[in-house]
Amino acid sequence: MALLAPSLLSANFAHLGRDVDMLHRSQADWVHVDVMDGSFVPNISFGFPILESIRPLTNKCLDVHLMVDKPDRYVERFVAAGANVVSIHYEACTHVHRVLQQIRDCGAKAGLALNPHSPIHLIEELTDLVDVLLIMSVNPGFGGQQFLPGTIDKVKKSKVLLQPHTLVEVDGGVGMHNCAQLVAAGAHVLVAGNAVFKTGDPMETIASMKQLMG
Ligand code: DX5
Ligand code: ZN
Repeated sequence: MALLAPSLLSANFAHLGRDVDMLHRSQADWVHVDVMDGSFVPNISFGFPILESIRPLTNKCLDVHLMVDKPDRYVERFVAAGANVVSIHYEACTHVHRVLQQIRDCGAKAGLALNPHSPIHLIEELTDLVDVLLIMSVNPGFGGQQFLPGTIDKVKKSKVLLQPHTLVEVDGGVGMHNCAQLVAAGAHVLVAGNAVFKTGDPMETIASMKQLMG
């Protein structure tokens, strides 16, 4: 059964506790947490204090997506702040092996994110170290962008290379219109920001999406 990971980037930051509590009570499986440094991506979101504040509000998996240059500098602190999965970008590190191992050594699941321009074969020498492959279906930095259709093929291609233990996650422009297609292509985890939070009843939307995802 595929997992749904609503992205807090689209939540109401003035009522973040309320929104995390809603996710906790909902059928959401993971909580996706987007950290942006204003350098790797042209936007700044939030960091350690937010993660520390939401950690006590739910026991659901906190799926931390680091859109940060040289993320090895911060892995330990994000795991200490409560991350269960830490995803780093292939494009943001020089020694990808080392950083993935570092994440595991800290006790979290190691995620590797690929920008839309990065071909799937880049993971070929890394498959044993990747617990989660995060395929970006928009250029990272902002919520509410349009899904890049080439992603469906990328998900299919990834299945040939990956080891059985690796989860395939898709992030960006995911919603009711494409969630079933992504699961059929082989995605295990779908991130959804605007498609969940910018609706009248996010909790109900989560339930409907889960149903479509099968
Ligand atoms: C984009 C972030 C996404 C974002 C998705 O850079 O990594 O997680 O929150 O938002 P939507 O689902 O609105 O495209
Ligand atoms: Zn993300």
